[in-house]
Formats: sequence, C-alpha cells, structure tokens
Amino acid sequence: MGFQPAPDELKRRVRAFMEKNRGKLYHSIPHPDFADLPVAHGNERFDILRPHLDHPGGTVLDIGTHWGQFAHWLEDLGYRVTAVEHSPNFAYIARGIRDICGKKFEILETSVFKLEDLSYDIVLALNIFHHFLKTEIGFNDLVALLHRMKAKTMFFQAHVPTEKQMEGAYRNMEQDEFVAFVAKEGGFKSVEEIGQDGKRRIFKLC
Ligand SMILES: C[S@@+](CC[C@H](N)C(=O)[O-])C[C@H]1O[C@@H](n2cnc3c(N)ncnc32)[C@H](O)[C@@H]1O
Repeated sequence: MGFQPAPDELKRRVRAFMEKNRGKLYHSIPHPDFADLPVAHGNERFDILRPHLDHPGGTVLDIGTHWGQFAHWLEDLGYRVTAVEHSPNFAYIARGIRDICGKKFEILETSVFKLEDLSYDIVLALNIFHHFLKTEIGFNDLVALLHRMKAKTMFFQAHVPTEKQMEGAYRNMEQDEFVAFVAKEGGFKSVEEIGQDGKRRIFKLC
C-alpha cells in the first residue's frame, strides 16, 4: 500500500509540536508530506541498531514510541511491532502517520506500566527509562517493570546524568551504572555497547 495524503488535523498537530519545540520534530516522519522538516533525531540510531537486530520476524515492544519512527523501520524489516505511548496527543499523531504510510503495527495508548504482557523477542527502551528515575514512584515502577519483563533482547539508550532535566531526580546514575542496573533488575546476562548518539550511549542486553 502506498502513501495517503496527510489530513489537516495531523498536519496541524505536527506544526504545533514544532512551534513548541524550537522548530524541530523529535524524530523524522517517514512520509513525503513531512520529509523536509527539521528533526532532532534522524536515522543515526537505527544505523547503530540495525546490524545488531536478532530474532528476524519476531515481536518487538517499542516503549515510549513517540510518533513511531522505529516501529516503521522495524515493520519494514518484517518484525511484528507493538508501540506503546502514553501521551494521547502523541499516540494520535503516531496512529495518523502509521495510517497514511500504510503500516500495520499496533499502537497502545497507555503507560508501559499498565501492560500485562511483557513477553517480546526485542524491547526498545530508547531515551525513556531516565524519565522514570525522576520520582520515587517512577523509580519503583521501573524496577517492577524490569522484574516482569521477559525480553530476549533489549536495546537501551541511557541519558547523561548532568543533563538539566535530571536536576533534583530521585535517583540519577552514570551511564555504566544505569545499564548495569537495567541488566540486573531485568535479568539480562550480557551487555554490549553498540554505539553512541551524541553523548548518550546505546547498549544491547541479552
Ligand atoms: C524522549 S521520547 C523518546 C521517544 C523514542 N523512544 C525515541 O527514542 O525516539 C519519550 C517518549 O516516551 C513517552 N512516555 C513517557 N512515559 C511513558 C510511559 N510511562 N509509557 C509509555 N510512554 C511513555 C513520552 O510521551 C515520549 O513520547
């Protein structure tokens, strides 16, 4: 199925996001109507992940998918993707982009902490877990989530603890400490650093 034109409401919401975010999207939108918009994240991280993807044709959970760019790439490679996004506005935009691109992946508009089924071949946890370190409740939810998770592989992108957004965080961790924490609480036996996006490092846990 080819591209459909973007509806006005979708364009309006995308523009509104840009206006609030210094004229940039968070990540690229794989549709010609949005192809030229400036983005904070292009395809650099997918180029890092791609050679390390295993379980071809398997299931993927994308935690905090935002507008779903990784879900599009992974569906193109034949994965069965579930994308979870708790912001109703972002989930609306993600569904809109998915539909006009003729993609099929599932979008769950809820918090990842509410998911019952956490058995996936691959879990993407990119630029998301540090948000949960900011409060005691978020930290406890993250630990409980990792205990319940049954992922064979996880791709994890850490934050830099000196980032302004982490000032006053309930727990803050250096990147090595954070990945060791995720591995321990999630029951992963191996950790491999596969690349870096700006100052944020990306790890594969198995
Ligand atoms: C910084 S963005 C990262 C987006 C994407 N993972 C990436 O790296 O390109 C974090 C996203 O996670 C979403 N989010 C935050 N808390 C969440 C939660 N508890 N459950 C699901 N999504 C969440 C936010 O709304 C936002 O879209």
